[in-house]
Amino acid sequence: MNVLVVKANNRPATEAISSKMYETFMEAVKGAENLNVTTYDVFAEDMPYFGQDLFNAFGKMQNGTELTDVESRLVAAKQKAMDALTAADVVVFAFPLWNLTIPAKLQTFVDYVYAAGFAFKYDAEGNMIQLMTDKKAIFLNARGGFYSAPEAAPMEMAVNYMRNVFGGVFGMEIIGEVIIEGHNAQRDKADQIIQEGLRQVTEVANKLVLQHA
Ligand SMILES: Cc1cc2nc3c(=O)[nH]c(=O)nc-3n(C[C@H](O)[C@H](O)[C@H](O)COP(=O)(O)O)c2cc1C
Repeated sequence: MNVLVVKANNRPATEAISSKMYETFMEAVKGAENLNVTTYDVFAEDMPYFGQDLFNAFGKMQNGTELTDVESRLVAAKQKAMDALTAADVVVFAFPLWNLTIPAKLQTFVDYVYAAGFAFKYDAEGNMIQLMTDKKAIFLNARGGFYSAPEAAPMEMAVNYMRNVFGGVFGMEIIGEVIIEGHNAQRDKADQIIQEGLRQVTEVANKLVLQHA
């Protein structure tokens, strides 16, 4: 069982709650013999922004023209992200809510793998077909404010977005989701909120270990 952990925060775990969630998950799966756990650290990877440079690179590759530095880095980075996803049975995303959305580096990872013919396709009638229904996803997210209430939920574009991409379009089964929320809004309850969330992260990780024991 290959578990790919996409770490999407480079703030230290002493300060960032989603980094702490990542560390808690890794600690809980440590030594699990049937899980092959690898980390894809989006802040450590060389990941140029997705855009016309990539399309230029594809054109040049067809013509056999030499790529520029940024074009070849983009092609290599996109392939690496796609290969990492292909190899994974379970993908765990540890990510914060920043400015109502996901960090730009995680967005770049999504841009690399959100590819027709790879993650989804259209059939002859124009229906979208999910191509990753054999994979499972787990979301570990932290957000300082509260977004669970129906009136606030539509503002939240991190977990909602990740669900739409990896569940809705790619077809992965979301087998676990832990959201730590409100620790900035309610400082007096912060410790309690964070500890309870981290306990749930351990629980999700333990479940994964037990399922594949
Ligand atoms: C750059 C930045 C932007 C943030 N934007 C929001 C936000 O839009 N809404 C919110 O509720 N909290 C916001 N927060 C607070 C984080 O959601 C909170 O710190 C949470 O624990 C996730 O981020 P962290 O893992 O980096 O700590 C922001 C924090 C940072 C560092």
